[in-house]
Amino acid sequence: MAGRDEPFCLVIFGASGDLTRRKLMPALWSLYAGRTLPEPFAIVSTARTGMSDDEFRRRSRAGIDEFARIKPPSEQVWDRFASALTYVAGDPADPGLYAKLDATLTRIESARPGPANRLYYCATPPSLYDDIITNLGASGLARPRDGGFTRIVVEKPFGHDYDSALALDRQLAAAFREEQVYRIDHYLGKETVQNLLVLRFANGIFEPLWNRNHVADVQITVAESIGVETRGAYYEEAGALRDMMQNHLLQLLCLIAMEPPVSFEAAPVRDEKNKVMRAIRPIEPGRVRESALRGQYGPGFAEGKPVPGYRQEKGVAPDSRTETYAALRLVVDNWRWAGVPFYLRTGKRLKKRVSEIAIRFHRTPHLIFQRDPAGVEPNTLAIRIQPDEGMALTVAAKTPGPDLKLAPVRLDFRYGEVFGAEPPEAYERLLLDAIHGDATLYARGDWVTQAWRLLAPVLEAWAKDPAVPLHTYEAGSWGPAEAEAFIATDGGAWRTP
Ligand code: BG6
Repeated sequence: MAGRDEPFCLVIFGASGDLTRRKLMPALWSLYAGRTLPEPFAIVSTARTGMSDDEFRRRSRAGIDEFARIKPPSEQVWDRFASALTYVAGDPADPGLYAKLDATLTRIESARPGPANRLYYCATPPSLYDDIITNLGASGLARPRDGGFTRIVVEKPFGHDYDSALALDRQLAAAFREEQVYRIDHYLGKETVQNLLVLRFANGIFEPLWNRNHVADVQITVAESIGVETRGAYYEEAGALRDMMQNHLLQLLCLIAMEPPVSFEAAPVRDEKNKVMRAIRPIEPGRVRESALRGQYGPGFAEGKPVPGYRQEKGVAPDSRTETYAALRLVVDNWRWAGVPFYLRTGKRLKKRVSEIAIRFHRTPHLIFQRDPAGVEPNTLAIRIQPDEGMALTVAAKTPGPDLKLAPVRLDFRYGEVFGAEPPEAYERLLLDAIHGDATLYARGDWVTQAWRLLAPVLEAWAKDPAVPLHTYEAGSWGPAEAEAFIATDGGAWRTP
């Protein structure tokens, strides 16, 4: 693991893209401004577009002004940061680019003491990963040198299905050792997602309840109010299952369902998550409709304004069958969770942006307050990932007055109220972890391929079986009406978060 004050160079492939502008540069800047970015550092960015260093700095500054958590306090501080930014133009398919990068890195590294620590970041469209990984391997850039580290961060989507994820893994393995590879899932870097582990494993009261004896069901919702925006072409190939379910929602499920790891370190945490993935009951190809439901948004309203349907979005085929909503019912076949349904749903253009995990507990075995059973809801622990980060436990209470009337009340904890400060962006935490060599919050290769394996029958049926319906829902609603009947088959009901 690199020390906190060790030098490093970060090479970003895909420098002119959206991810670099909206997420990576703002995160790096915020780390720098918050004095947590190890120094000395250099950020070498590359893309096909011809651009000078200064032009790249100007563009980065515009992205930082718009998206960073911390704004540049003065020109002096900004200039110091900007002097560490270099731009190298080139085609990722051209071996000549890697010679240029090597020369740039060597020049920077030889001008300062300390080992040559290098971190490569694939922020390009996935179609370019092939060229980048192959050329990093062939040029010798993938090999650690002079006692330093060399690592590679790979953005999602990691493959398109099981076979392509395996192929990408093989390709990475030809150039890098597994411990050099960091597969990013930005949900794992969110403060509230990390807090899930703290909630479960730093508090004694939850563990005895965290199992089939007390939990009736678990509901994971990641709802977005935005549509596909400018990403129609990408989304047409992806859909909600690949874009959100295969990674973010399944990661959340694993954190909820996993056994306590022996320590908060990469190997034990990732081992426990993998055990959950292996315990999820496979979806039978002939019975996909019992486990999965899909939908696509039609025209509707968002924040009171009319918005087009998915098929009218830019880059989307007018007869597209791509799902913008997906719901799953999963069962984790192990001693802790046998018989507890896990309901997962995600979608674009839903009523509001909200991500939450709700643990619904069993009702009391016998209700002694016979006069007002209506006021008694099952206890539910709702963990709000975003926005309004926090958690709330619903309990029954007596309403004031001579009658014995019951009402649900919420014991509510809000991050913002208690801690005040705005939490760091997920990318800040994850970039810092990759620099420090901590892969705890990164996805391991076998987890990713197992997630693809689990969803393969759904992907297959949705792509090839015309009998599987694609339900339409109005933009701005909570998804297709059919989702209610889907969850009700085993007694569930979607919450309104
Ligand atoms: C990305 C998806 O991984 O996550 C996007 O590709 C989605 O489609 C985004 O909008 C949601 O992330 P967040 O952090 O805004 O919940």
